[in-house]
Amino acid sequence: MLDFHSHLIPGVDDGSKDIKMSVGMLDMWKEQGVDFICATPHFYADSNSPSRFLEKRNTAYASLMEALQQTPGGLSSYPEIALGAEVYYYRGLSSCEDLNSLCLQGTKLLLIEMPFSGKWTDYMIREITEIKSMGIIPVAAHIERYMKIQPSGKIDDLLDTGILIQCNAEFFLSAKTRKKAFRMISDKTIDFIGSDAHNLTSRQPDIGPAEAAIEKKLGPDALHHVRKNESLVREAFRAYKARGGKE
Ligand SMILES: [Fe+2]
Repeated sequence: MLDFHSHLIPGVDDGSKDIKMSVGMLDMWKEQGVDFICATPHFYADSNSPSRFLEKRNTAYASLMEALQQTPGGLSSYPEIALGAEVYYYRGLSSCEDLNSLCLQGTKLLLIEMPFSGKWTDYMIREITEIKSMGIIPVAAHIERYMKIQPSGKIDDLLDTGILIQCNAEFFLSAKTRKKAFRMISDKTIDFIGSDAHNLTSRQPDIGPAEAAIEKKLGPDALHHVRKNESLVREAFRAYKARGGKE
């Protein structure tokens, strides 16, 4: 099982506070049968530069790896971790020179968090199209969170850019939303699922229960499209590792 969206890296955003919490979260993922995690800390261009963000993220990741090596099972008993970012959309994002370095390691996938306030503008939609034309594959983070706040026409405009769609596990677990979530996964509208886990309690790793609920309701084939995309991520990341971490 793969988790496409998480705030596992300690001390870099509002996710895991410290190494102890990150190890606790990893234990929860392990228990759920997750073997691959995309670590996607928040990147906000108004308070950080890509280079500072990457340095902080990579240093925290290295400390976490060191801590995992000291555990009884060692590093290999934990899920693989690919580093990425959850990039908050801002005007001018398409001109950011470091977009490639914010993509998930080994891939051209860029997780973008669209704005929560105000109606999305045509300019924003054009900019997402522009990013796609640059060879980067934008992925809209937790699209379900916008469905109540954006008119459906705006969501459709975004989908028409060819952006891929990530939904949070919670979408499938909440009694209020799961009907729609099951319909969307059946329609293959959802390309990736992520827990968007931030901690051990209020926003904990919950992708295992979500995928179990999908399979119980719709059968294992319902996840076929998502699994295919996940395989591409795994392969691309392993090839990146085999190249010694070179893009
Ligand atoms: Fe997130």
